[in-house]
Amino acid sequence: MPPNTSIPLFRSAVLSSLRPHSHAPIRRTALVTNHLRPAPITPTRQQNITRHLATAAKMSAPNVKLNNGREMPIVGFGLWKVNNDTCADQVYNAIKTGYRLFDGACDYGNEVEAGQGVKRAIDEGIVKREDLFIVSKLWNSFHDKERVGPICKKQLADWGVDYFDLFVIHFPIALKYVDPSVRYPPGFFNEKDELELGSATLEETYHAMEELYDAGLIKSIGISNYNGALLLDLFRYAKHLPQALQIEHHPYLTQEPLLKLCKERGIAVTAYSSFGPLSFLELNMQKAHDTPLLFEHDAIKSIADAHGKSPAQVLLRWSTQRGVAVIPKSNNQARLAQNLDVCSFDLTKEEIEKINGLDKGLRFNNPTNYGINVPIFA
Ligand SMILES: NC(=O)c1ccc[n+]([C@@H]2O[C@H](COP(=O)([O-])OP(=O)(O)OC[C@H]3O[C@@H](n4cnc5c(N)ncnc54)[C@H](OP(=O)(O)O)[C@@H]3O)[C@@H](O)[C@H]2O)c1
Repeated sequence: MPPNTSIPLFRSAVLSSLRPHSHAPIRRTALVTNHLRPAPITPTRQQNITRHLATAAKMSAPNVKLNNGREMPIVGFGLWKVNNDTCADQVYNAIKTGYRLFDGACDYGNEVEAGQGVKRAIDEGIVKREDLFIVSKLWNSFHDKERVGPICKKQLADWGVDYFDLFVIHFPIALKYVDPSVRYPPGFFNEKDELELGSATLEETYHAMEELYDAGLIKSIGISNYNGALLLDLFRYAKHLPQALQIEHHPYLTQEPLLKLCKERGIAVTAYSSFGPLSFLELNMQKAHDTPLLFEHDAIKSIADAHGKSPAQVLLRWSTQRGVAVIPKSNNQARLAQNLDVCSFDLTKEEIEKINGLDKGLRFNNPTNYGINVPIFA
């Protein structure tokens, strides 16, 4: 048993985003062998592919039109905490299930494996690259303008693609550069468990993102974890407005003023952690343990019963009916399929308002909740 079950577990798991990869061996050789070798197309296999394509067509979610005319699926699959040894299979199976958007990041440490899943699906003719919407994120250690292009190119190579549909500034905070050959993903802390801030301003980083956009390496620009003040500042210096903002969004954190601001400026919003505390129980976060689970909340359960849907589907539908895209993560195939089927029913106006009323301004994904002294939401 580890001496402390709370903070270290929590830190090492989130820091998966932040650095579990140094602890978890990545079995790249085995995965490459298994997933990069295209299987021969036998008649039975062709039948299976046709069946999967039919299922995928049925299960697909509608798109959101971005302010540059491109389209983004309103439901996608989030890749945070998707294990390295299952990631390629999960992405491949998610594509067969009908997912087209994958939300990845340097920080999740599984972009190579996610790319292997994509390659297998493309090699088997299940999808073409242009059918997919691949999202990745710029980690805090690469905010200096001269670091943005090279790291984006490395991440593209990891995925095995030549453009991202959306590349997102993960957090509005610059950390000191870490050479990928030294530590990758870099996480928040160095080897001495110290946090070292970088000197790049958000404006500098954003202009470097615009260069990637102009060069066609990224088809849309995203930002994440920005508040209203940072957005209003960005509107002053942006040559191209961002296409999307990714934020924590669930009934305990409904973020109306931020949604309104984005709507006024034509910026699409994507919700992360749509199930509220659930994702953070996996990290043993005390705040999540102290918060009633949304799945067990009477308001959510009664609405789910009324529609014959699961509480998860109600939470995702509440978000998509507010025009906010969702990217739930599941390591379970049945739940993954269920999460995609969230636009085939409608909540009533009263039900939506009832769920809106659960707002507590409760944020889980705050670095300070992980004991990381970066008070970006202060
Ligand atoms: N930009 C950012 O800073 C940021 C931060 C956090 C997350 N994200 C992105 O957002 C994605 C989603 O957020 P998240 O991973 O925090 O959490 P989430 O999708 O809200 O929740 C994941 C949890 O819900 C469970 N789950 C999923 N579907 C379910 C269902 N239908 N019924 C019951 N349980 C279900 C999962 O367990 P099982 O796996 O066992 O099903 C897991 O415990 C991430 O993967 C990542 O791509 C971005």
